Amino acid sequence: MRRATLAAGLLSFLAACDSESAASPTPQESKARDFRRAMKTIESEYDKLQADLAAGKSPEEARARVAAIRAAAEKASRLDYRESEAENRELAFEFSKFRDASGKLEGAAWSGDDGQRAWRRLGTACASCHTLYRKE
Ligand code: HEC
Repeated sequence: MRRATLAAGLLSFLAACDSESAASPTPQESKARDFRRAMKTIESEYDKLQADLAAGKSPEEARARVAAIRAAAEKASRLDYRESEAENRELAFEFSKFRDASGKLEGAAWSGDDGQRAWRRLGTACASCHTLYRKE
């Protein structure tokens, strides 16, 4: 009898914990959400950059898009959203490579064929991190 009451108490306690975790995300979950949000920003700027190039917009506008991508990547790189410290460190290292690659691209010509080439190179820099760390 007493044991049954204890078990029932434990069950309702566990249920309460469960509903709490559904209501408020853990810090890691919030960081993961912010990380994905930053990636969405990056993707949106990346797509708009392609549209700008197709529309023959100025190199200054393209550079502003690259700068926005770099700023969002910088933000994502500080989130440490992975559970494993080692993974966070490895990801940070990939972000530092992306920072270098995209920094060089900010200075690219950004018009005509050169612009297309720079845009593809930027996509390659996204892909080299995704290949390693984006599981789907
Ligand atoms: C240094 C690593 C890194 C770089 C560089 C990077 N990404 Fe990501 N990206 C990731 C990881 C890791 C994920 C998976 C996030 C997760 O755990 O759900 C991701 C996810 C995404 C997503 C999906 C977001 C969602 O809603 O789930 C998009 C879109 C994306 N990246 C676009 C880009 C684009 C475009 C670039 C380049 C301009 C880029 N990323 C550069 C690491 C990177």
